[in-house]
Amino acid sequence: MRLNFSLALLLVAVLCSCSFGADFANGPADSITMPPGNRVSQTLLAGDKLVTFRSWLDIPYVSKPVEPEYQRLNIYIPEEYFNGQSINGFTAKTAPIFMPNGVGGYMPGKQFIPANDTRHGTPNAALYALSRGYVVVAPAIRGRTLANGKAPALIVDYKAAVRWVRHNKDRLPAGDPEKIISDGLSAGGALSSLLGATGNAKEYEPYLKEIGAEDERDDIFASAVYCPITNLENADMPYEWIFNGVNTYHMGSAREMDDNMKAASDALKAAFPAYLNGLKLEGYTLDENGNGSFREYIEGLYVAAAQKALDAGENVLGLDWLTVEGGKVTGADLGKYAVWATRMKAAPAFDSLNMASFENNEFADKHFTEYSFKHSTAESPAMADAEKIYIMNPMNFIGREGVDTARHWRIRHGVKDRDTSMAVPAILALKLKQAGYDADVAAVWGVPHDGNYDLPELFDWLDSICK
Ligand code: DHB
Repeated sequence: MRLNFSLALLLVAVLCSCSFGADFANGPADSITMPPGNRVSQTLLAGDKLVTFRSWLDIPYVSKPVEPEYQRLNIYIPEEYFNGQSINGFTAKTAPIFMPNGVGGYMPGKQFIPANDTRHGTPNAALYALSRGYVVVAPAIRGRTLANGKAPALIVDYKAAVRWVRHNKDRLPAGDPEKIISDGLSAGGALSSLLGATGNAKEYEPYLKEIGAEDERDDIFASAVYCPITNLENADMPYEWIFNGVNTYHMGSAREMDDNMKAASDALKAAFPAYLNGLKLEGYTLDENGNGSFREYIEGLYVAAAQKALDAGENVLGLDWLTVEGGKVTGADLGKYAVWATRMKAAPAFDSLNMASFENNEFADKHFTEYSFKHSTAESPAMADAEKIYIMNPMNFIGREGVDTARHWRIRHGVKDRDTSMAVPAILALKLKQAGYDADVAAVWGVPHDGNYDLPELFDWLDSICK
């Protein structure tokens, strides 16, 4: 009944969708530079709730764009804030600013557009955010396939968009620039963690100047991070720590690793404990065989994911890597897990020996680890610029003097995800916690390489830190 009524309303609302034109000419955001005629009002059905919002589209966020099609952002603001109303306890002044990025595969990312997400059968992150009273600022972002899109373009653009928001805070009709939240999955999750980790770090300044970013702060309040393909120069080791011994990989079709790849797997697995121990994460270590408290921690994340699923009535029985006794999940075996999950990528997973991975392309078709450079099978092996490798890794900035890292983090990684090792998001979270930040990390049962699949939970958490 309620849905039918809503649908009828939706029809009326869609018919009424219109350009503001003159009626908004004196509105508070009118001084924002934007092509004329692209301010629109829209109503969409989010679940069983009608959400009406105003949009400003394609606003350039830098003054000297090198890829003008991408260096633009969209702003979406709930209609209620134009009538002095509040939503979910937020007002025009206090509404947090949700800034999702649409980057995947280190490719260029388009602006998020509020819509229903047919894959998950829910509103997408932008529409859901509006329904919870968040202002949405959605930047497009350069990626590796553009002439001017290689590393560190993506993080430079995301920062420039944050700076634009701060610079225009008095002209934005709603939104609190001290409550900016990043969100992304996979390469976009790496990007979200980079934005969160590197607030105001001086290394990005020349790149920001070059594109005419505003001279403002670029630190943010919180980061939502899903399955981040990050810590790139160290990610090959934990991948082999988990998948060593599983020699069939599944990239498109199933193939066998050759001898070079198997040798890389052995060497990288053996190198992981020294890397992990070198991070000096209090209470988390590995012995030379890769066993110890850090391994137990990762297994514990899978146990917790399974327990949560079990408590919610899901079936987690019948897996040889998971022990369930009397309604309690009591153990996970990482070795058996790897066989069950299957290997996606040949070793090395990120810095490919043939220099042909997404990540090699992101670094302008170069290697970014000593191991792969030394063992390269590429015709003309080259090493990426050390400074670029450094500023693409959020790990390098956490706890560093003069850097304003986001205070709040929510990091999620699917139990079925094998695009990167669970150790990568876990290490990121442990490093954040050790440096005093609020970092909530979890594995999620039944989930492959994906993000934004648990929006009600994500926004409950955001509400709890924003209010
Ligand atoms: C993405 C996935 C990968 O496996 C990878 O190596 C890089 C990026 C992605 O989905 O964004």
